[in-house]
Amino acid sequence: MDQEALRGRHLISCQEWAREEIDAALELSVELKRRYRQRIPHRLLLDQTVFMVFFEASTRTRNSIEAGITQLGGHAHDLTPDKMQLSHGESARDTASVLSRMGEAIACRNCFYNIGNRYLRELARWATIPVISMQDDVYHPLQALADLMTIREHFGDGALRGLKVGISWAHATSHAKPLSVPQSQILLFTRYGMEVTVAAPPEFPLQAEIVAQARANAAEHGGRLTFTDEMDAAFVDAQVVIPKNWGGFAHYDPWPVEIEAPEREVHLEAMQADLAKYRDWICDARRMGLAAKEVRYMHALPADRGREVTDEVIDGPQSIVYDEAENRLHTGKAVMALTMPGSITRSLTPGGGSS
Ligand code: CP
Repeated sequence: MDQEALRGRHLISCQEWAREEIDAALELSVELKRRYRQRIPHRLLLDQTVFMVFFEASTRTRNSIEAGITQLGGHAHDLTPDKMQLSHGESARDTASVLSRMGEAIACRNCFYNIGNRYLRELARWATIPVISMQDDVYHPLQALADLMTIREHFGDGALRGLKVGISWAHATSHAKPLSVPQSQILLFTRYGMEVTVAAPPEFPLQAEIVAQARANAAEHGGRLTFTDEMDAAFVDAQVVIPKNWGGFAHYDPWPVEIEAPEREVHLEAMQADLAKYRDWICDARRMGLAAKEVRYMHALPADRGREVTDEVIDGPQSIVYDEAENRLHTGKAVMALTMPGSITRSLTPGGGSS
């Protein structure tokens, strides 16, 4: 694929990128990882600026994009609404239009349910530079890319078709986590022919339109997508398990689109009551024992230790959570290098030296 094909493109969801474009991002991620590990300079985005706008907290996403753009020769502005006129209600249109005159990409995280994806799409509508999602209420494309890269590293590219992946809801009390990680995983993994089982209590469904799209992906690409309300069922014979909490947002649709609407608080309180019913949805040694012997444990992090997963599992030999986290750096860099204007990816050939 011509690497220039992605120049200027937004990344709101991997679904909007063709398979060959995702493959190109993964190939570049592998090469950038090699160069990073070998301390070979790769300043593909010299003097370029990414505006990172975070409506929520972040460790991996913030630091992978900021360290990543530094390694690529550019710079990131670490922004939050209180540092911007967003706090006084400035529109997405004006924010995107102004930042487009000053730098080369806008990266944004806005996970408010029924708000975040709309906000990112409004930024993308008006920006003349790429808008890169750092997670919204529906999608987390950078996480899904890193997850796919990590699975490929551990199982090999040729083993993806038919790979058994168990994605399960898990108990957590830290915060109501967005739906975007499991939704992005079922959308992407089914495009690579994986056999995905999703386990969740009835009060914690994924969004119906995303499930329908993932089913269509599976049908088109020879994958499989099944649902169960038994956590154990996601573990039986699985080669990859991804047990993680997500909020019951989709159970209470429609949510208001106003961030201060009182119904939002009512829904959140109801979700807390539902949560208490499922304390036994934890990834522990017994459940790992149901999986295939080569099983790998994954989690996008942050993990709610002692509730989503036991220390024994997340710190154990089957856990690849730090590989997964590190790959956020390499995949984030690849996305920036492929989409931002003026990048010199053409000069970076596998096996080559400093660019
Ligand atoms: N996985 C992930 O997106 O982590 P952060 O919320 O720390 O960015």
